[in-house]
Amino acid sequence: MEPDLSGNEKTYLIDAIDSGWISSKGKYVDQFEKEFAAFHEVDYALAVSNGTVALHLGLVSLGIGKGDEVIVPNLTFASSVNAIIHAGATPVLAEVDAETYNIDCNKLDQYISSKTKAIMPVHLYGNPCDMDEICTIANKHGLLIIEDNAEGLGSTYKKKIAGSFGDVSTFSFYGNKTITTGEGGAILFKNQKTFEYAKVLRDHGMSPDRRYWHEHIGFNYRLTNMQAAIGCAQLEHIQDILQKKSSIVKRYVDGLAPIGSIKFQKTEAGSLSSNWLFTPLFKNVSTNDLSQYLHKHGVETRPAFYPISTMPVYSDFKKGGYDVSESVSKSGLSLPSFPTLKNSEVDLIIAAIKKFYD
Ligand SMILES: Cc1ncc(COP(=O)(O)O)c(C=O)c1O
Repeated sequence: MEPDLSGNEKTYLIDAIDSGWISSKGKYVDQFEKEFAAFHEVDYALAVSNGTVALHLGLVSLGIGKGDEVIVPNLTFASSVNAIIHAGATPVLAEVDAETYNIDCNKLDQYISSKTKAIMPVHLYGNPCDMDEICTIANKHGLLIIEDNAEGLGSTYKKKIAGSFGDVSTFSFYGNKTITTGEGGAILFKNQKTFEYAKVLRDHGMSPDRRYWHEHIGFNYRLTNMQAAIGCAQLEHIQDILQKKSSIVKRYVDGLAPIGSIKFQKTEAGSLSSNWLFTPLFKNVSTNDLSQYLHKHGVETRPAFYPISTMPVYSDFKKGGYDVSESVSKSGLSLPSFPTLKNSEVDLIIAAIKKFYD
């Protein structure tokens, strides 16, 4: 994990410190929110402390809570599911597709009940979900969409940018994400009222017109001006970061495809992935052995996410029928794809994998 901080990050950060505005007031928070909204061609953006509270605040601001069910893929970072539980709602774990690793739209109907309030698609590893299908199903059943776009910043689906589909869409700026603010997150909103409500909730539920008068039982989910300063600088070179990641993944695919036993995550025609993590499926080998072998050669890897249904703490929420999630998880391994990775390093990793298969 090595973020690309080669732009104005230091300059803006020092400027924020010099201004004295080091907490959550200051020009960079507003600037970051405006630029982030403009990047997604939406009207309303809120910067928050991380991607998990972005999900939580998004859910709460939509009025989702006790007694409601939210459909979420079984293969995701646990934060998606935790946020639903912390909002007081019940996650319903949905099976994923073997090719895209995303929520399987053909099976979505089976998870819908009279309690279902929303669908939370996750663009896993940056690969956009089938948003036409998800929007159609959501419209048909009157469901809200919370787009967990922590991993898909900069991805596009049919030329429309990921994060512009959901009633709320959420992002993470943790150090390993496409752009980073150290820790950080953001929410995009379709509806002005929901945005305004979330803005108040973000700041302890305090009335914007009457200091220390609390209209709601809120949270402190603010991002600091220092973090936002880094975010503004990151946004200036986001296209370059996306481009570098895309060429790293292309180089991997060209180099690894001849091995034959490696399957790549499928991006639907018309979609572009942010390539957050490059996670092929390594068939006929143990990913544990491969990971250890690469580690010995100085290459750090990450296992694919465990299906949520396999972890005992989530046993109350599983429905069964998760063969695909389990098989993707078992054979998936994420290889380094951070934007500062050199071509020569990618080539060494490819060569090491070839040797392992030999
Ligand atoms: C799909 C998904 N949702 C939510 C999050 C939570 O983001 P954060 O770590 O900023 O809380 C992550 C972070 O990795 C993620 O991958």
